[in-house]
Amino acid sequence: MLPPLLVPSILAGDHARLADSAALVARLGLPRIHLDIMDGHFVPNLTFGPGTVAALRQSSRLFFEVHLMLDEPDRYVEPFAAAGASLISIHIEPSYDHADTLTRIKKLGCQNGIVLNPGTPAAAVEPLLNRVDLVLVMTVQPGFGGQSFRRDMLPKLEQIAEWRRTRGLNFRLEVDGGIDLATAAECRAAGTDTFVAGTSFFGAPDPAAFAAAFAKL
Ligand code: DX5
Ligand code: ZN
Repeated sequence: MLPPLLVPSILAGDHARLADSAALVARLGLPRIHLDIMDGHFVPNLTFGPGTVAALRQSSRLFFEVHLMLDEPDRYVEPFAAAGASLISIHIEPSYDHADTLTRIKKLGCQNGIVLNPGTPAAAVEPLLNRVDLVLVMTVQPGFGGQSFRRDMLPKLEQIAEWRRTRGLNFRLEVDGGIDLATAAECRAAGTDTFVAGTSFFGAPDPAAFAAAFAKL
C-alpha cells in the first residue's frame, strides 16, 4: 500500500490569506493541498471559483487537488484546469456524462477523481474505476468543515480497496471529512492512502507536529 498522504484542506485555512495557508503546507514538505469548490446548489454552502485558484497558483507550486461540489461539474472543468488545477474530482451524484467528463479532465492535462457522498453506494462508481486516478469517499455530508467522521463509511472503503486489489488497479483511495489521527488510522486499516484534513490540520496547535504524527500512521 502507498504511504499515507496528508492533504490539508484550505477550507479550514485563512480565507483572507489563502496564499499563507498554502505556504504553510509547502513549508512542512507536504506535496498537496485540497481546494473545495461549492456552488450553493449541490451543497448548501459557497466557497470560491477559478479566479481564486488562479491567484493562488501564482504563489504556489503545490499539487492542487480541486474537489468540485457542483450540480454541473462538466461545465467547469476547463476553467479550473486553466486556473492551475493538478487534479479535478467530480461527484457521481448529479446527472451528466461522468465518463466523458473524466476523459476531458485527462485531456486537459490533469489527473481525475470520482467522489461519492455518504449515501451513495460503492457500486455507483464501480464501472468507472479503471479510468480514474483517485476515488474520494466522503466521510461526512459535504458542505462544511468540522463535522464528525462517519464510521459507517469504512465498509465502503474496504469494498473499493478490494476491487482495486483484485483488478490490479492503482488509483488513490481518499477520504474527506472528520479526519484526525484516530479516524485516519481506521481508514488506513480499511485500505485508504490519501487523507484530506481541514480542521484537524489548520486548527492544530502545532501543524508540523500533526503532520509528523500523521506520517507514522
Ligand atoms: C467538506 C469538504 C472538506 C472539508 C473537510 O465538504 O469537502 O474538504 O474541508 O473538513 P474537515 O477536515 O474539517 O472535516
Ligand atoms: Zn473536500
